[in-house]
Amino acid sequence: METLGATVWLTGLSGSGKTTIAHKLLKVLRARGLKVEILDGDVVRTNLSKGLGFSKEDRDTNIRRIGFVADLLSRNGIVAITAAISPYRSVRGEVRENTERFIEVFVDAPLEVCESRDVKGMYAKARRGEIKGFTGIDDPYEVPAAAEVVCHTERETVDESVEKILAALQARGHIPSAYAADGERTVC
Ligand SMILES: Nc1ncnc2c1ncn2[C@@H]1O[C@H](COP(=O)(O)OP(=O)(O)O)[C@@H](O)[C@H]1O
Ligand SMILES: [Mg+2]
Repeated sequence: METLGATVWLTGLSGSGKTTIAHKLLKVLRARGLKVEILDGDVVRTNLSKGLGFSKEDRDTNIRRIGFVADLLSRNGIVAITAAISPYRSVRGEVRENTERFIEVFVDAPLEVCESRDVKGMYAKARRGEIKGFTGIDDPYEVPAAAEVVCHTERETVDESVEKILAALQARGHIPSAYAADGERTVC
């Protein structure tokens, strides 16, 4: 079966689990023979969006660029997984309108949990005032109103979150069922 391609748009606070889920999802989809790419906010900011800052305008520009590339990939049979905070609802809505087979995944973990993980030590810096405009501390995160999938990473495993996303993609016919290829289920 020809894969149509899709965009899996992960959104959530820093440390909520976007990059972790993106990489596991990529592994599972590739094991099923699908073409997959990740557009990670942290990586994109070193190339495609190099030079952009964290003002609302620059954040929105970053998201529009990621959305533009994700749409190109989705239209060409690739599952594009994006992993950027994407804090603003209106630009997420814009990207949704302009992107083929878009599903929004709210990677939802309470701020306290993200802060206690502090994967990159950024929350500590933001609390000390060394970083200004940090999402969740002194910059807003607008919770998605109608995400197709919500992953509660403080109480779900990575595999459980990935399973939910796979189910949502399959239910919409964006990817073949795990049984379709060779009758065997891909274990994740
Ligand atoms: N269920 C889960 N899903 C994703 N990450 C989890 C989960 N439980 C714990 N974690 C941990 O939370 C951290 C999330 O970091 P990361 O994926 O870099 O977040 P983000 O990309 O959203 O900033 C990682 O250290 C990861 O191992
Ligand atoms: Mg990340």
